[in-house]
Amino acid sequence: MKAVAFHGKRDVRVDQVPDPTIEQPTDAIIRITSSGICGSDLHLYEVLGPFIDEGDILGHEPMGIVEEVGPEVTHIAKGDRVVIPFNISCGHCFMCDQKLYSQCETTQVRDQGKGAALLGYTKLYGQVPGGQAEYLRVPQAHFGPIKVPEGPPDERFVYMSDVLPTAWQAVEYAAVPDGGTLAVFGLGPIGQMCARIALHHGASEVFGIDLVPERLEMARRHGVHAVDLREHDDIAEALRSLTDGRGPDSVIDAVGMEAHGAPFGKLAQTLAGFLPDVLAEKMIEKAGVDRLSVLHATIDTVRRGGTISLSGVYGGMVDPMPMMDLFDKQIQLRMGQANVKRWIDDILPLVQEDSDPLGVEDLATHKLPLDQAPHAYEIFQKKQDGAIKVLLTP
Ligand SMILES: NC(=O)c1ccc[n+]([C@@H]2O[C@H](COP(=O)([O-])OP(=O)(O)OC[C@H]3O[C@@H](n4cnc5c(N)ncnc54)[C@H](O)[C@@H]3O)[C@@H](O)[C@H]2O)c1
Ligand SMILES: [Zn+2]
Ligand SMILES: [Zn+2]
Repeated sequence: MKAVAFHGKRDVRVDQVPDPTIEQPTDAIIRITSSGICGSDLHLYEVLGPFIDEGDILGHEPMGIVEEVGPEVTHIAKGDRVVIPFNISCGHCFMCDQKLYSQCETTQVRDQGKGAALLGYTKLYGQVPGGQAEYLRVPQAHFGPIKVPEGPPDERFVYMSDVLPTAWQAVEYAAVPDGGTLAVFGLGPIGQMCARIALHHGASEVFGIDLVPERLEMARRHGVHAVDLREHDDIAEALRSLTDGRGPDSVIDAVGMEAHGAPFGKLAQTLAGFLPDVLAEKMIEKAGVDRLSVLHATIDTVRRGGTISLSGVYGGMVDPMPMMDLFDKQIQLRMGQANVKRWIDDILPLVQEDSDPLGVEDLATHKLPLDQAPHAYEIFQKKQDGAIKVLLTP
């Protein structure tokens, strides 16, 4: 089969590899019909190379049709249409019983000191072949796959693999008070959906902060108060001035370490090199060069006694944290990998509503054949050609 494989920094290729087969009685084989490229894949593409081997198959946002199931997989059968969560969880351990599926003790990657294994996500998370491919072996398939109805397009469902539960959890963790306000830093797919979900949940106002015009524009289309980072020297002050001088009740960081493309000590120039010059300059000027700058901005922005929810992925152990501000402002901080299946009962009815309340049909900007994966990664990373979300269609 064809599969998108890692070959080095900024080098993914479509390789011919052996078809996957059932290895465990709890496995299933899925023929992929759509597979997203995630902001997390950009971390692999750019900086996590040391944790990934050449030839590893990428992708953790797949859906498709069941081809074959192992003898212990009974809730799905050949021919069913399914979405595959990016966490691999058993459904019956101590952690899964608490719906902390991203911490599953059956699949925890203990030799790396990490939580549940993930599809297509480095040795840190089990080195499981991913779903940007024609076929996928799904481990723990007696639990994970989410059965969805025939009829509506894949876009209605595919984001349940990652984007929607991640955003849903970020909003839950942000604990916006009834009728309160929320700021979302980063208007990639995760930030877009955080903003829409918060509005759906009744936030009185959601501010969305980014520096890419079409991302700001997409947020505006969905009722978000878009704030262009490039227009403000002090973004926290700008947000305070929009919220009676206090700051929003809750703040979500949907940017993560990739804000400056330099997690392991290098500087902003790396990512800036991928942006159009005007954006790059502004980015360096306004966003600073510290890779925690967004996290620091969220701490500065949130009102006293408010909550910060991190969904952006951070790596590294030695970054200084402004503990004095966190303490003095009495901030609650919550974070973590999404527990995908925890939120599906809430999300599935919404994505099936005719009115499309979360606007899932307005997120993907590109649907490209698997063969074009190298191009797809490039435009997504460089934010070219209006790319906000790319779906690969094997
Ligand atoms: N917690 C989870 O389970 C989980 C799941 C999926 C993704 N993620 C993480 O969420 C983050 C976002 O994912 P995505 O797919 O939306 O990625 P993305 O790369 O498309 O989005 C990031 C956005 O942040 C913007 N940005 C960069 N610097 C900024 C700054 N200083 N201020 C404001 N905005 C800035 C970028 O322009 C971009 O629009 C990534 O870190 C990803 O790894 C986490
Ligand atoms: Zn992801
Ligand atoms: Zn488990």
